[in-house]
Amino acid sequence: MPLQGLENTDKNSILTEKPQHIAIIMDGNGRWATAQGKPRTAGHIAGAEAVRRAAEAAREAGIRYLTVYAFSSENWHRPQEEVNALMTLLVQHLSSELPLLLKQDIRLRTIGNVSLFSEEIRTALQETLDKTAHCKSMDLVLALSYGSRDEITRAVRSIIKNAAGTDNLQITEETIAAHLDTSFMPDPDLLIRTGGEQRLSNFLLWQMAYTEFYIITTPWPDFSKDDFQKALVEYSKRNRRYGHV
Ligand code: FPP
Repeated sequence: MPLQGLENTDKNSILTEKPQHIAIIMDGNGRWATAQGKPRTAGHIAGAEAVRRAAEAAREAGIRYLTVYAFSSENWHRPQEEVNALMTLLVQHLSSELPLLLKQDIRLRTIGNVSLFSEEIRTALQETLDKTAHCKSMDLVLALSYGSRDEITRAVRSIIKNAAGTDNLQITEETIAAHLDTSFMPDPDLLIRTGGEQRLSNFLLWQMAYTEFYIITTPWPDFSKDDFQKALVEYSKRNRRYGHV
């Protein structure tokens, strides 16, 4: 599918490479709701709809992996009422979105310390993970109770545990990458952050060493398929050098 906005340019100037992996920091739900005189949870409900739009747009564009920051390890410190609302939303959407995931051949995956969730949520998650495990068109990766420093700490612990009893502990970048939650996918090519803040918020710190950033002020609940296309067009203009000349 051609990138909208690039149709009129010289064919040779269109970079054919598209991102394999897009990561999104879905920020601005609370501000979106407050601006409308609604409770913050209304922003998360509208935000969940935007996740569906983004997943559809990504799949239509042939993106292989889409990772969305749905609940950070720091989000546990929000008011209990908001945490509960986010959990309820997650369980509701896991069951309501399953038919669409299957129809669109999208595999659901998670990264993060999911063991911290209640049994109800872990069961609902596992069911959706299992039922979509055969899907091949795109992986939709939910970052849940995810924090990059926590992930790296868990990876280091796991490397040391696996090496117990051996006297030949060799650690390379590949060793660390293989022990991260993200070991099944390539690093993100593009990070989209909505809501205008210019920070990483403990998201995929190791994996985003060479990721292109695209930050927009649009709050997440207003994020449209058109916004997604614009991000792809912007990405196609970037010149990725990975520290080389
Ligand atoms: C940041 O906005 C957003 C979150 C902490 C939660 C994101 C969750 C969703 C979009 C719902 C996901 C649901 C499913 C089913 C995957 P904020 O609340 O920090 O906004 P603010 O900066 O305006 O306060």
